[in-house]
Amino acid sequence: MPFADDVRAGLTAHPKTLPPKYFYDELGSALFEAITLLPEYYLTRAETQILSTRADEIIAKVEPTRLIELGSGSAIKTRYLIEAGLRKLHQLEYSAIDISQAVLATTASALRAQYKGLTVRSYQGEYYEGLRALSQGNSQPHEPGRRALALFLGSNIGNFDPPEALRFMRAIRAVLHEDDALLLGTDLKKDRATLEAAYDDPIGLTAAFNLNILARINRELGGRFNVRAFRHRAQYDESHGRVEMHLVSSVAQVVSIETLSLDVSFTAGETIYTEASYKFSSDDVQRLAHDAGFELQHVWTDAAQRFACNLLRCV
Ligand code: TRP
Repeated sequence: MPFADDVRAGLTAHPKTLPPKYFYDELGSALFEAITLLPEYYLTRAETQILSTRADEIIAKVEPTRLIELGSGSAIKTRYLIEAGLRKLHQLEYSAIDISQAVLATTASALRAQYKGLTVRSYQGEYYEGLRALSQGNSQPHEPGRRALALFLGSNIGNFDPPEALRFMRAIRAVLHEDDALLLGTDLKKDRATLEAAYDDPIGLTAAFNLNILARINRELGGRFNVRAFRHRAQYDESHGRVEMHLVSSVAQVVSIETLSLDVSFTAGETIYTEASYKFSSDDVQRLAHDAGFELQHVWTDAAQRFACNLLRCV
């Protein structure tokens, strides 16, 4: 079972880590949706501002017959592009890849009910699995005049380390054809206070989102984490351009995880590294695009210059 194996590997490593994909069980996905409503978490609002004002322009540059979204979630922002796509061509395919089956099912039925002319396909799985399933379902020869616009929004690219981000961008490139494009959302580098507030809000939603991974180990693997004995920490590491998320053990403690027959010891102040969120300058995006086989065609930012939507053309 991958969750069990990954938890064992992560909690026996030095320093301890847990893979961020396990944030997104049903509760975690709901908590993340709530995070996007926080005043401090400007990312979703900034990206929504860009998409709501620029969707027609984006669609006009690519004229896609198909949208492919990685980590579609509730697809609220995507609706602007779906509507613009339907305004342009009246028929559109939407292929959604997400790790949460519950979220995929709800989103797909809402979209089908709302948009005539939209064909929705859902792929449950991790990103790489989703891309594989998508390219297998795509085995007929590429028809001229059919163009895909891939979407990787929400600065989710920032949750990969740079080598992994490059590898993933190449995997996206590999399922695309010459005239296709990728719309990549990236959070811009900015001052520490703004960044740290976005990942450590005063009502504790982000803390709950991070701590939920320990509660999930309790629920699914017979873990005995006293979740209250861990604290959420978010810190901007400017030299790496990333916000680091940790769970800090408040006391020295030993936690047993029954299904794994594992005891994990923590010293007071020891942390579990759960996620990084990298921030990007326009040079960073340009370099990543180029190295992955794209060229950066256009960048849109929100009015406050906090977030960027980058249109990458396949080369
Ligand atoms: N993609 C989101 C981001 O990097 C994920 C995220 C938001 C997140 N808040 C978080 C991850 C808190 C861990 C903890 O902004």
